[in-house]
Amino acid sequence: MSLLEVEGLRVRLPTTRGLVTVVDGVDYAVEHGEVFGVAGESGSGKTMSMLSLLGLLPDGAVVEGSVRFGEHDLLRMPRRRLREVAGRELAMVFQDPLTSLHPMLSIGRQLTEHVRLHLGLGRRDAERHALASLTDVRIPDPASALRAFPHQFSGGMRQRIAIAIALACRPKLLIADEPTTALDVTVQAGILRLLDRLRRENDLSVVLITHDLGVMSAIADRVSIFYAGKVVEAGSCEAVLSTPRHPYTRALLDALPHPEGLQDKPLVAIAGAPPSPGAIPSGCSFHPRCAYAQESCLHHVPPLVAMGDRLLACPIDPLVER
Ligand SMILES: Nc1ncnc2c1ncn2[C@@H]1O[C@H](COP(=O)(O)OP(=O)(O)OP(=O)(O)O)[C@@H](O)[C@H]1O
Ligand SMILES: [Mg+2]
Repeated sequence: MSLLEVEGLRVRLPTTRGLVTVVDGVDYAVEHGEVFGVAGESGSGKTMSMLSLLGLLPDGAVVEGSVRFGEHDLLRMPRRRLREVAGRELAMVFQDPLTSLHPMLSIGRQLTEHVRLHLGLGRRDAERHALASLTDVRIPDPASALRAFPHQFSGGMRQRIAIAIALACRPKLLIADEPTTALDVTVQAGILRLLDRLRRENDLSVVLITHDLGVMSAIADRVSIFYAGKVVEAGSCEAVLSTPRHPYTRALLDALPHPEGLQDKPLVAIAGAPPSPGAIPSGCSFHPRCAYAQESCLHHVPPLVAMGDRLLACPIDPLVER
């Protein structure tokens, strides 16, 4: 049985124009111990689809579908119980580590309060646990780091601390939303290696959200490509990124500066901009930007169906020369 199973997830957010759909019927499953990647342009609904699992959507949001995490039915759980599960078994780190860290509290206080609350540890045990958590993410001199405040650390170190807090209660699933986007490349590589080691050592599953397909190919086992609130292509990272079959996935890869294996190709930006929620084109929502679009694409929403080694929501295969 998968660790996480998401079916028909639909998220609508209140705006001045009424409710708009930002996640439109998404299905996926995350297996034990795997890194599951979620990629897609800005605004495609990656963050909202994850925040909905944790009950962290803006007020007035409407969520439909079903989300099973272990034995928990996350969308139908009382809010208080969800908070407990979300702090302990399911954790999230955000793009900007300062969002996860309180600026006025020492690192030690943030770590110990978290484990005292969720694991019920006494003060001494909580302090020992905090020290071990910082050592685990390779913070130099963890004992003095515990007495320091977030602003005293570099961006990369802060992200390590945010990961330490997220992992302090040994969750089964870590959702990492663009955890390395704000960091420079060498620091980024360090954080990715860290995530990879932690998942191997702790039998952790990771949902990694990133628009960076280079990062994705380095660490994810499977990947789902989001476009305008839907999954358009999904499968093993190897298959999807080496032989993309949805015109959107292909365009995303063509827009990458140095993707493996595509170095000899010219860089091509994706024409047009992603649609805004509330103004999603008819039929296949990618059709206005698609080089392969046909008349039928304007009228029919292509379902996500199994095609060989993957799931694909496009009847036109850009790999086939025409
Ligand atoms: N509080 C809000 N109220 C209304 N709409 C919102 C709100 N927050 C986000 N949105 C819209 O919801 C859509 C999905 O946003 P989401 O943050 O999930 O995108 P994303 O794929 O994570 O993008 P990015 O790569 O920029 O983080 C976007 O079009 C965004 O404008
Ligand atoms: Mg986001």
